[in-house]
Amino acid sequence: MSMKLTTAIQLRQANREFKATPVAPDQLAALSQAASYAPVARGRYNEFLLTVVTDRQVIDELEAADTGHPFYGAPVVMVLSTTLTNQAGYLSAGMIAQNIELKASELGLASCTILGALKGGIESSVAARTALGLPTDYVPVVAIAIGHPAHELKPRHFVTDRLRTVTLTPEQA
Ligand SMILES: Cc1cc2nc3c(=O)[nH]c(=O)nc-3n(C[C@H](O)[C@H](O)[C@H](O)COP(=O)(O)O)c2cc1C
Repeated sequence: MSMKLTTAIQLRQANREFKATPVAPDQLAALSQAASYAPVARGRYNEFLLTVVTDRQVIDELEAADTGHPFYGAPVVMVLSTTLTNQAGYLSAGMIAQNIELKASELGLASCTILGALKGGIESSVAARTALGLPTDYVPVVAIAIGHPAHELKPRHFVTDRLRTVTLTPEQA
């Protein structure tokens, strides 16, 4: 039976320690499918490219374009690239990434959104772009490290709302 959405939301967290255990092909397929259900500005899906990297050598090449190990040893790195390098493109990429991360939670996998490594090197590295097989007009805008968590993840319950929220009721408007 599938997990409640609320549980998946509470389970999702920036995970920075992964087991080396590979992610099963059917789970990878489910993550890609979840990505394709995301909303994209004006339905311009053909302007996005999701590259699913499970080859350790390629992940190492991506990390070589950055300093350190920005993917935290995850066995899977998904890189989302787009030709739509404007607000609509970046927002759409975020929607796609969130779908992937929530699906990962449902599957008992862990994830971490990664921007640092892209801005820090991969985006402008010819070697990294070649390793990804990126068409020249595509810019990698967000990556997601995915794998089995090194430590069991528990749903989180925030005592206070982390995000400042203002609700305008009819009386206040
Ligand atoms: C756009 C974006 C970029 C991020 N880039 C990185 C990153 O490069 N490295 C990293 O370790 N975490 C990165 N994160 C994870 C955030 O640090 C994390 O989501 C935030 O601290 C909240 O924690 P939580 O995800 O556990 O709720 C990124 C998150 C977002 C949304």
